[in-house]
Parts: sequence; C-alpha cells; structure tokens
Amino acid sequence: MREVDPRHFHYVMYPATTPVIAARAGGEASAMPAAWTAAVSFDPPMLITAIAPERKTYMLIRESGHFTVNYLDFSRVEALAVIGSASSRFLPDKLERAGLRLVEARKVPSVALADAAAVIECSLREVVDVGGDHDIIVGRVEAVFASEDFKDGAWSLERYRPILYMGRTRGPGPSKFRFATTGEVRDVEYGAGVRQAVEERRRARKLVEGAIDELARKMGRSPEDVAYMLLDALKGILARRWRV
Ligand SMILES: Cc1cc2nc3c(=O)[nH]c(=O)nc-3n(C[C@H](O)[C@H](O)[C@H](O)COP(=O)(O)O)c2cc1C
Repeated sequence: MREVDPRHFHYVMYPATTPVIAARAGGEASAMPAAWTAAVSFDPPMLITAIAPERKTYMLIRESGHFTVNYLDFSRVEALAVIGSASSRFLPDKLERAGLRLVEARKVPSVALADAAAVIECSLREVVDVGGDHDIIVGRVEAVFASEDFKDGAWSLERYRPILYMGRTRGPGPSKFRFATTGEVRDVEYGAGVRQAVEERRRARKLVEGAIDELARKMGRSPEDVAYMLLDALKGILARRWRV
C-alpha cells in the first residue's frame, strides 16, 4: 500500500452516493450536492449531512428548519456538477441553468427536485459545530418517496443508476469532478459465513430478555419498565467508560 496525504482521507472513502440537498426560506431557494451525507438512526429515523456554513443552502436550512435530500439518476450527473460548482449567492438561477426544477415538498414546508429518483424530506433537528470547516446538519426524516425502481425495500437498479462521487482528479490539465455509477447488483445472504455468531447473538438476546422478565417479576414492574431502568443504568456505566 502507498501512503496517502491525510488531507485527502475523504478521497479514500469514495465513491459516495451523492444526493442533492435542497432548501427554501423566505422567497429564496437553493440546492447543492453533498457527498458527505449519511444515515445515523433507525428510530427515530435520522440522517446527517456535513455542509460548510458559507453555502447558501446551509443558511436556508437554518432559516427554514427544513430540507430535502434528493437522489438524481446518473443521466443528470452534469446538472449535479453545475449546481455543485456555483453558489446561488453568485448565480441565483443556477438550477434553471442546470436544467433542474424545484417543486413543493409533499410533507414538509420545503422544496424538492422535480426529477429526483428519491426524496427524503427532513426537519432540522440540530446543527453541530465539530470545530472544522463543515457543520453537521442533523435531519429528522419526516417522509420518503422513491421511484418504481425501489422494490421490496431496496433499489433493484434496473432503471435508477445512482451518482457516485469519486472526488476531483488532480492530474495534469484542469481539475475535474469524477463520477461513477453501478455496473453490478449482487444479493448476499445475511449471516453467510458467520452463522454461528448470528446464532450466538440471537441466544444472548433471548437470555437477556429472560433475565429482564425475571427481574420484572421480582420487582413487580413491567418488563418494559425494567428495560428502561437497565438502559438508564447502562448509560451511566458506558458514559464513564466512553468519556473522552
Ligand atoms: C459532487 C459534489 C459533492 C459535494 N459535497 C459537498 C458536501 O458534502 N458538503 C458541502 O458543504 N459542499 C459540498 N459540495 C460543494 C457544494 O455543493 C457547492 O459549494 C455548491 O455550489 C453550494 O451551493 P449553494 O451555495 O447554492 O448552497 C459538493 C460539490 C460537488 C460537486
């Protein structure tokens, strides 16, 4: 392996499925690609996106308290590059120029991309300053819409080809954004090769559930109450261990 400059760590993390974050506040709207977007919680459903405070979209998210995460098909990759190259601050009609149109979001008071293959509508839960050049925008997922290609809880990728961002090329000549898309879908059985560990986890869970039931009987409380008490106690123990 060759050593890579630590300032380029994120290039090693690519390719990244790159959505377009859209927001509106007052009479203004903007949208921008954000490769640094990820899921962070099943319950409640939440996601994060790391956005630099100087982006127009950042300001609109903070002002309105809502935003959408839009997944475009690879056929629109040039449009995504256009809105990722210029800020609405300097080019207020950048979306029209890119051939993209904003429409009303369906469940939150915000905007979404008309041609998205999927839209995740969010309310702003928190903005976290991590002491770096991007802040973490934490979104509570309020509604999700996806095209026909999203079947049985997953993309079939028969029609939708996701946009995967690879970073910028730094070779001779002008720097370019590099993108890729998928060429193969493979289904791999859950737990294949680690069946024993999966079984062990299931058994451990059963044992713990049994112990909670027994505690509940002894304490004259419901198993749910006891689970919450355990969670409370565990949080204390783990907080001490994880203190940084
Ligand atoms: C593929 C791609 C991914 C990007 N990812 C991010 C990101 O995760 N966070 C961020 O703050 N900016 C990111 N940018 C830069 C913004 O999209 C860009 O600065 C945009 O013009 C901001 O627009 P606005 O000022 O109208 O909001 C990315 C740009 C491209 C082309």
